[in-house]
Amino acid sequence: MYTKKQIKITVHFTPAHLDEMVLKDKNIVVIDVLRASTSVAAALANGAKEIIPVGSVESAVKISGSLFGDVVLRAGERNARMIEGFNLGNSPGEYTEEVVKGKSIIFMTTNGSAAMVKGRHAANLVVAGFVNVAAVVDFLTGLKSDFTIICAGMDNSFCIEDAVCAGKIINRLEKLSGADLLLDDAGIAASVLEKNFGRNILKMLKESDHGKYLAELGFSADLKICAGIDTINVLPVLSGNVIRAQKNTAQQAQK
Ligand code: MLT
Repeated sequence: MYTKKQIKITVHFTPAHLDEMVLKDKNIVVIDVLRASTSVAAALANGAKEIIPVGSVESAVKISGSLFGDVVLRAGERNARMIEGFNLGNSPGEYTEEVVKGKSIIFMTTNGSAAMVKGRHAANLVVAGFVNVAAVVDFLTGLKSDFTIICAGMDNSFCIEDAVCAGKIINRLEKLSGADLLLDDAGIAASVLEKNFGRNILKMLKESDHGKYLAELGFSADLKICAGIDTINVLPVLSGNVIRAQKNTAQQAQK
């Protein structure tokens, strides 16, 4: 008898309680809409060779070593602002072709890079924002396997923008994969939130805690970039300690 393929999706609204060994060998999607995921996607789309996510400024300085400033850039933020001695902050608009092409970028952010580092023993780990939902859904459609979504959140708390992005991935996958999705409570909540807030992402970002914080600091332009849906056709994939772009050959999915 034909049975529809079942895919179990587990959603975590923050990575706070997650141990990296719990994530070992899992398929993982890390979401940090504001702004780490969006910056990673922008950097790779503009030709960065690789992104190396790290969990502390000390690691960033140590890893970049003597190659710093030549083929290696340090990027990221503390309290949303560029870290002293770094080349780039965490505004996706900074990651232009001129700046990042061919470079290895050591990437340190408060929540996003830390969530990526936690998933380093995953079977597969991809990075998602609204900008590259199509590439991520295409990957998950091909994967046909259970997966876990980790929302980076903010300071170990729930962030609506990451939850809505998780919901967008789930709702699109449901439409496109033909699979039977088995959702946990967080996944059901994310799906409903997306149906409610998904039509006007920029408005949702502007009204979010993190969005208001960034706007107060003068980063309103970043919200516009982060609100773009399917504007960057790139699939950032972590392998070992390094994130590289995997070519996405599929067509852009329908919103
Ligand atoms: C983070 O990783 O905490 C964020 O990307 C913070 C930010 O908006 O720069």
